[in-house]
Amino acid sequence: MEMFVVSGGRPLKGRVSVSGAKNAALPIMAATLLADGPVTLHNVPQLVDVATLARVLVSLGMKIHGDTSAALHFETHDDSNVTADYELVRRMRASICVLGPLLARRKRACVSLPGGCNIGHRPIDLHLKGLRAMGAEITIENGYVYAEAERLRGADIYLGGAFGSTVTGTCNIMSAAVLAEGTTRIEAAACEPEVVDLGNFLNSLGAHIQGLGTPFLTIEGVERLSGGEYRVAYDRIEAATLMIAAGLTRGVVELEQVPVADMTAVIETLTHIGLKIDQLGPLTIVDGRGLRSATDLVALPYPGIPTDVQAQMMSLMSVTPGMSVITDRVFPDRFMHASELVRMGAQIRREGPTAVVQGVEHLSGAHVMASDLRASAALVLAALAAEGETVIRRIYHLDRGYERLDDKLNSLGASIRRVDDQPVGLTTPEVPMELSKHRSSRAA
Ligand code: EPU
Repeated sequence: MEMFVVSGGRPLKGRVSVSGAKNAALPIMAATLLADGPVTLHNVPQLVDVATLARVLVSLGMKIHGDTSAALHFETHDDSNVTADYELVRRMRASICVLGPLLARRKRACVSLPGGCNIGHRPIDLHLKGLRAMGAEITIENGYVYAEAERLRGADIYLGGAFGSTVTGTCNIMSAAVLAEGTTRIEAAACEPEVVDLGNFLNSLGAHIQGLGTPFLTIEGVERLSGGEYRVAYDRIEAATLMIAAGLTRGVVELEQVPVADMTAVIETLTHIGLKIDQLGPLTIVDGRGLRSATDLVALPYPGIPTDVQAQMMSLMSVTPGMSVITDRVFPDRFMHASELVRMGAQIRREGPTAVVQGVEHLSGAHVMASDLRASAALVLAALAAEGETVIRRIYHLDRGYERLDDKLNSLGASIRRVDDQPVGLTTPEVPMELSKHRSSRAA
């Protein structure tokens, strides 16, 4: 396993480019199962999650070749397997995105249920409700979802849940509905740009989806989808992460390929805190040297502040003067990063779905542990601003969803070393005789 050793206190300066969006690329890759011909995708980011989903697709009889830096080519050569195995699905929840496409194209699907995860309870009841409404017979046995339908039929489906809509659920239902008989109307569809990107991809193959980007989708089923070529959108979450990095280090960075039109809430909030964000032709210039003011922030479904930047914003608020109140309405338990930030000197108090952050003068380097993808990013950003050295373990979480984030930040002047995770200075302290006796008698 690898870990990062970060020397903090260097203002970022320079230019980097944002990569393709993970959360658009994954459902789009899954939806290539629906196509009758070869599909070429551009701008797929080079990530562990992308490699994992590619493995799932290969296990389902697809041939994939090419290179993420140029183009990836997908084509089905054997459609007999309909099982997405636990061994692969357990590595990445987004594997559930193959459920809708498999069912619609191969009439059957058997997909391992994604388990729990560090960002909270993540049921898939809304996915299943939508597919059942379209006529699928669904059972859950031995940890797998078994779904079957000779041909799905259009239906009216409400996808609202206690925490808003569902992003991958909307992707699954939309992907299934494009080949269903008749019209499907989805109400309370997720409006996230990544859902729009999947819809645009499906339409480019011949699907008829209207209403993308609104909570009301109308999908006229078609007999078949063709192959085609598509460019995945740029990653608004990575762009936000880089902007926040500029703020935390009081640096000035120039970002290429920022999907600014999808980032109004984030840009407005960062501007309120004191960052200066300007568009200069294709470049987004982020100046993090300005004054800071604390702010309240609520993570909400799009177009609200994404839950996927809540952790990184918490790092920024940790060194922003004043008291900030951060609430996550999408994943109310997504606060594992808070206690690690506290180890770096942040003052954070958790109250249910809310964290109260009292800005401190500075953070200090410490040994910390990443718990999930965005928590890892939050810790890297905090480490860039901290005094001294920070060691971040379990960075495999980061590699799942950011393309070379350490290289990009280093190219801006950061000092992040990726090293083998060896126990640092681990020695067994001497224990007085009587205590060691006590321990062994208790163990017995
Ligand atoms: N929910 C239900 N029932 C369902 C589905 C979801 O109650 O059937 C709840 C969830 O428990 C959660 C809320 O609805 O409280 C939203 O969950 P959603 O289904 O939208 O999340 P997701 O589709 O599993 C995607 C992203 C996440 C991102 C969320 C929210 C992908 C591959 N993943 O997950 O991305 O946080 O939407 O925007 O698109 C990340 O990139 O780090 C990440 C976790």
